[in-house]
Amino acid sequence: MVARTHILGMGHAVPDNVVTNDDLAKVMDTSDEWVQQRTGIRERRHIVSDCGATDLGKIAAEQALDAAGLTIADIDLLVFATLSPDIDWPASATLLAAKLGAGAIPAFDVKNQCSGFLYALASADVLIRAGRARHALVVGGEIHSTGLDLTTRGRDVAVIFGDGAGAAVLGPSPDPERGLLSTHLHADGKFAEKLWLEGAASRSRPRIKLEDLGGDDPVAFPRMQGRYVFKHAVTRFPEVIHEALEASGFTKDDLDVLIPHQANLRINEFVAAALELGEGKVVNNIDRYGNTTAASIAIALCEAVRDGRVAEGKLVCLAAFGAGFTWASALFRW
Ligand code: ACO
Repeated sequence: MVARTHILGMGHAVPDNVVTNDDLAKVMDTSDEWVQQRTGIRERRHIVSDCGATDLGKIAAEQALDAAGLTIADIDLLVFATLSPDIDWPASATLLAAKLGAGAIPAFDVKNQCSGFLYALASADVLIRAGRARHALVVGGEIHSTGLDLTTRGRDVAVIFGDGAGAAVLGPSPDPERGLLSTHLHADGKFAEKLWLEGAASRSRPRIKLEDLGGDDPVAFPRMQGRYVFKHAVTRFPEVIHEALEASGFTKDDLDVLIPHQANLRINEFVAAALELGEGKVVNNIDRYGNTTAASIAIALCEAVRDGRVAEGKLVCLAAFGAGFTWASALFRW
């Protein structure tokens, strides 16, 4: 029987620079009260300068390798999930592999927004179980702050996002009863324009124009129909969590820990109520980091492993919903 994949070690990194809601209120018309009430976010981290998603990813990856008791020489696959690659191309995974001193191992990016880490996890799991890799580094990292419209015009999106990275080392589970039970991936591009960043666009020449930065609704910044996204999120989250539980014959009552993507605390509270999950079963850290997209789940899982909320024997579900739309889940017996 092919061994299950498990997470053997985790790490995470965020910039030192804390940006509170009051800090944002100095540059745009918003308030701590509005942001906390609508999103649950108190603060997020922004880089100061010259730090790419792979720089944070490198710190997170090195912690994950240490936690797994491995070195980069043991890694034979690297998957990097990001919607904010350091540069347009080549893939940030190749840049990160070089920074870590990896050999000529396969390395590729997954660009699937908030579901990116779970898509990357699923891809690595399949390759490991197919015998194409033994130990994989799966990293989610984002630098949002340099791409946000930090004026009143962009306030609905700008207050939500933060910078960060999380990493997991995957490998064969030491115990056949434990590890990754299943992954479930979905996408529906009909809703792409409800949450997207249109420019720079390869379909136009030049790909970005000065006027793309101006106007009421500039294409060079992320644009979101927040309420629309919210409504889909609160439907898709319970669906994809149930899908993961049912695939292994479990019900919501069996679930010990849910680690949802951190887009909005209200979404996560709604999902917890819909699934009737008891107090303390849902991991949230959005108050401190905002939405770090492909890094959110990895950072939350890493913190929950370190503080013991995710411990051996627990049934743990990871679930995401975001731009695309894309949504996904993964179920572990930890
Ligand atoms: N500060 C103060 N007021 C604001 C702000 C702000 N930062 N942003 C918007 N407002 C105003 C709006 O202009 C509007 O004013 P008006 O009534 O005068 O027109 C009012 O607040 C209400 O705006 P809404 O957009 O309707 O506010 P809503 O209650 O929907 O909250 C929010 C907005 C927080 C963005 C919410 O819709 C949400 O969280 N949506 C889901 C986000 C999400 O899940 N994204 C997916 C993940 S991201 C990814 O995949 C990359």
